[in-house]
Amino acid sequence: MTTQFIGKENFTIHTHTVSESCPSNIALIKYWGKYDNQIPANPSISYTLNHCKTNTTMEFLADEPFSVQTFLSGNEEVKFAEKIEKYFKNIEQYLPWILKGKYIIRTENTFPHSSGIASSASGFGAIAKCLMALDETFTGKNSEEESLRKASFLARLGSGSACRSLYNGLIVWGETEEVQGSSDLFAVPYPETEIHEVFKNFNDWVLLIHEGQKSVSSTVGHGLMNTNPYAERRFQEARENFIPMKEILKSGDMERFIKLVEHEALTLHAMMMMSDPAFILMKTGTLEVINKIWDFRRETGLPLFFTLDAGANVHLLFPSDASEEQIKTFIEAELLQHTQKNGVVKDVMKF
Ligand code: PMV
Repeated sequence: MTTQFIGKENFTIHTHTVSESCPSNIALIKYWGKYDNQIPANPSISYTLNHCKTNTTMEFLADEPFSVQTFLSGNEEVKFAEKIEKYFKNIEQYLPWILKGKYIIRTENTFPHSSGIASSASGFGAIAKCLMALDETFTGKNSEEESLRKASFLARLGSGSACRSLYNGLIVWGETEEVQGSSDLFAVPYPETEIHEVFKNFNDWVLLIHEGQKSVSSTVGHGLMNTNPYAERRFQEARENFIPMKEILKSGDMERFIKLVEHEALTLHAMMMMSDPAFILMKTGTLEVINKIWDFRRETGLPLFFTLDAGANVHLLFPSDASEEQIKTFIEAELLQHTQKNGVVKDVMKF
């Protein structure tokens, strides 16, 4: 945090600069469908990634007329600035100073742009952390716990799943009886003592099957759940899935974990196919990879499995243990060929 006083004609501009970093996350039980004010229709749980991050520097020129300028990897992004302006107006009730100045926001992702990795999660997570850093210079320091909670609350209002990115490990967003302290308003870490060691060191290799703009944004996708005849059943199932998930995380039952995580991913895409209008975000490569994973598991019994978010790319999940070298060899030999330009982003979830 730096604060400078720049003399300008007869008055002084207070420039505050903060820099924050936030990782992306990948959901195991998916959030798909929401109510007003970014209230999720069901609880979700995700792993926070360790390498895929957004680094953001926010310069705040206090007392200038409100405006936002954004740069992504050095290039000005007008559309993103408009989105952030709208977001700041929306959260003024929680940060009363927020519209009293000009912002220059520079942001960089450590992963390829449009790779299908949730840059809105890491992006809004980093912005929310910057806002909290500014807030604390104006209104006083909070405890770390309060500060993270408020950042998670603010991030949620930018992009729902972003609220889970504020914490490392396995993170829950959405109220469920199965997780004490869980809330629709912010995310909470899943208690570490309730997690078997095997789930504390996992790989997530993201196969970049299709880079570029998605045909249907997640905002539109969430909206289509409002008229999806299967929506209520889906929300109910996601809520119920917390019961086996809790048992699995405690016991380390990999077989049941794989079954549940893949079921969640396929259900998410099934919901898209059953929307009106229907849409499909998976590509041929997505299906080819899924079939190869299933064949590989049948033949070797090794714990390689997948999840998907709202896109064509496949998140390959496998534990960091004795089996990982054989799994990595298989991925390189058999799965990379289904990506565009041999694209894979290798991340881990370690805590
Ligand atoms: O946070 P949003 O609005 O981009 O929605 C994300 C939805 C999924 O990634 C598909 C699932 C999830 O829980 O992250």
